[in-house]
Formats: sequence, C-alpha cells, structure tokens
Amino acid sequence: MATLIKNGTIVTASEQYKSDVLIDGEKIVAIGSDLDSRAETVVDAEGKYLFPGGIDAHTHFDLPFMGTNTAGFDTTPAALVGGTTSVIDFTPQPAGMSLQDSIVKHREEAIEGKTAVDYSLHSMIMDSTVPGIFDEFSALVKAGVPTIKMFLAYKGTPFMVDDATLFKGLEAAKDVGMLPTIHAENGDVVSLLQEKLLAAGKTDPKYHAESRPAIVEVEATARAASLAQAADAPIFIVHVSCEGAMLAIRNARQQGVDIFGETCPQYLVLDESYLAKPGFEGAKYVCSPALRPEFNQEPLWQALNNGWLQTVGSDHCGFNMKGQKDMGTEKFTGIPNGTPGVENRLAILYTYGFLQGKLSLQRMVDAFATAPAKLFGMYPRKGSIVIGGDADIVVFDPAYQGKISVETSLHGVDYSAYEGFNEKGRADKVFLRGKLVADGGKFIGQLGQGQFIERTPFGLAYESRMKR
Ligand code: URP
Ligand code: ZN
Ligand code: ZN
Repeated sequence: MATLIKNGTIVTASEQYKSDVLIDGEKIVAIGSDLDSRAETVVDAEGKYLFPGGIDAHTHFDLPFMGTNTAGFDTTPAALVGGTTSVIDFTPQPAGMSLQDSIVKHREEAIEGKTAVDYSLHSMIMDSTVPGIFDEFSALVKAGVPTIKMFLAYKGTPFMVDDATLFKGLEAAKDVGMLPTIHAENGDVVSLLQEKLLAAGKTDPKYHAESRPAIVEVEATARAASLAQAADAPIFIVHVSCEGAMLAIRNARQQGVDIFGETCPQYLVLDESYLAKPGFEGAKYVCSPALRPEFNQEPLWQALNNGWLQTVGSDHCGFNMKGQKDMGTEKFTGIPNGTPGVENRLAILYTYGFLQGKLSLQRMVDAFATAPAKLFGMYPRKGSIVIGGDADIVVFDPAYQGKISVETSLHGVDYSAYEGFNEKGRADKVFLRGKLVADGGKFIGQLGQGQFIERTPFGLAYESRMKR
C-alpha cells in the first residue's frame, strides 16, 4: 500500500526544501519530484511542512510515584495528535526487582496491546539497594535499552543515589555503551529546606519552588558533570530548568566532558508565578525541578537554538487534580510531582519558539525528533525524513489557529498545564510507519498499534550494531 505526499516542504535538522515523499508499507522509499503516481493514496501538502514524527524521550506513562499512578499508555493517542510518533518511557523499578525484570513487567503489564505510539524504554533506578544493579547494564544494552536514569533527588526514597553510587553507575555505563541520564537536584538540601518550610507553616504549592531553588539544581548538575569527567563517561542531564544548570552543562562541554542536556516546554513558557495561583491551583504546576523565575526562559531558548542543549522532552506525567494532586492539600510535599504535556511539545516549540524568532525550524526539528533519535540510538530508522527510514511523518499546517485546552486534550487528565496558550499551526496529519493515525487533531488509529523499538548503544554506529 503506497502513499504519495505531494508538494510539501520537508524540514530536517539541517535544511528545508519542497519535495514529494513516497511511502511504501512502513517505509519512506523515495523523495523527489515526479514520483510514482500509482500510489493508492495521494495527500496534497501544498502550503504545509513535513516534519519527522517527534520523539519524546522523556515520558512517564503508568508510573507509580508518590503514592499514586500517572495516566497509562491508553492515553498515548495524545502524543500522536501532537505530532509525536515515538516515546521513550522511563521504566519504574518496583522495590526489590532487577532492572531487567522491571522492563519485562512494564512492557507486559502497562504497554503491550495498549500503546498507540511506537515506544522504547529507559531503565530507571528506583531501588538502588537491589544487589548487583550495575552488573545488569550490559544485558539491558543488549536488550535494546541503552539508557538509565539515576536520581540525585527524592531523599527518603530508595531512588536517590549518593555520589559513590552515581560514580559506580557512570563507570559501569561507559564500558557497555549505556548513556546515563541524570535527575540533577541536591536531594539532601531539598529535604532540609522542605522540613524548614513545613515547620514554619509554609505548606502551599508555591513553597515547592522555595524548597528546591535553582542553586540545588545547578550544584547537582555541576557535580554530575564533574563525576562524569572523573569517570570519563558520557552523561545526559534531563529536565534542565534554569540558566545556571544550562551554563554548567555548557561549561563542562567546553572542558571536554561528553555531556548533553534536555529542557522541557514547561521551563520554556511557564514560570514560578504559576505555583502561586489562588487556592490550590498551583498544584497543577508542581514538578521537579520546579518552575523558575521568568528570566531563565530566554537563556534556555538560546541554548536550544545554539545547540548547548540538544533535546526537548515533555517529562509527561499525567496526574489528575482530583484524587491525585489533591493528596497535597495539607502540605506541598504530598503533591505528586509532574505535569502532563506529551501532546503539547510541538505546539509550544513552534508557536512560542519558531514563530517568536527564538528557534530556527531546523533547530526545532532537531530538538523535537532528530537529536533524541541520534543520542538515544533510534537513528536513522526514526528522527528524520530519509529514504529507508520509518514513514513517521507530520504534515504540519501553519495556517491553523487554536488554543490549548483540557476540553480538547487526549491526555486523560483533568487539567492542562497550558490552558489558553495559543496554538498557531498544528499537526494536521500524522503518519506512523506509513499509516495515517491522526487527522485534523483526531486520533484515527488503534490502541496496541505501537511497536517496541530496540535502540542501539550510545557511541556506536548503527551499522556496527547491525553486524553483532
Ligand atoms: O516532576 C517530575 N519531573 N516528575 C516525574 C519524575 C521525574 O523526576 O522525572
Ligand atoms: Zn526527574
Ligand atoms: Zn521525568
């Protein structure tokens, strides 16, 4: 079954040009003009952009966290209508369970038969007390899971690793082609500040930001970078929220550390004043790291446009206000951390980045799709519009005008963190491996259509993986 997309403007991380794209089955088979017009389906993309399907390398579907669970993979149609065709989800590690078993469990119980998007998994240490945890890295890489998250935050839980454990993890990772991804906040200091604020009766959501100020993120980012340098290991810092942490990454890179960073839409367009909204509304915006003073946004956009930060992930965490966030009405430390956003990544980057002159279209496509594909081992199968690649294509209509709202969202969550934000342009048609799965903002695919994507190890060429 062939589909011809005609007259669109293809945008890649390095160029843009008008061309037709021919899809056969699940793959892109030709790019050019005068292509085979015997295709069963012809889509006229005149006046539209063709972006590669987005890769959101930071999602938390069905994550048990802070006493409750985020929305599950049955809500992944939200990703597709927002132009994201693949996610890399962080795999929860149940207490006492090995990392490998955790991957199998997450796939079997939470994902298979439910996901609408293609997916891969990061491993994630949530119980660092499990013996021999770093010896598993090699097997994880062989199973197509070449990334692991380690937390320097969340003291009082078995997630938080101390510096010795982090260092061991970095050393183990580099030996097997594993890229460690780090949640960089100083958990000891956050815990002390939380106690102090609560003792002073400061229990509202807005104190979440005071309990984890930018400096605790800057310190932990610089420390992680130094330890990566000491271990001679690569490192990826997730959810960079502030100028200081971004500069710590840039400085470390200038000193030769193989360091990369991600920011998220919430840190690009929301600021700490949202946490102080009347009543308990600020709970919607409780995520970690916390939202920052507005002055941090401009340097983050600049860092994306200059390549000092490489990717934008949503850090999607679907908690409802009713029944979940409201567990913290008595004290902000009880509010589950995280905001939903897998549907909104492209809308925010295009409307508030590209259209406001902060991000070129090439850098936008890179941060949205190509850089995550390359860094996390999905390229060239995913992440660009290339012959032989999966036909994951967003036909983007720049003329569309709308607003983001919970009323139209497919997140399956009772609020939107971006309620009322403009959406100028949108993913008009979304193809996943050649199949039209979203049209005009509506999901028209099936739950269960998503496939597991085995990823290649960090730092090794795609071909060398194919030879093994
Ligand atoms: O607030 C957040 N980011 N919640 C999800 C867990 C994490 O640290 O990424
Ligand atoms: Zn985190
Ligand atoms: Zn996260």
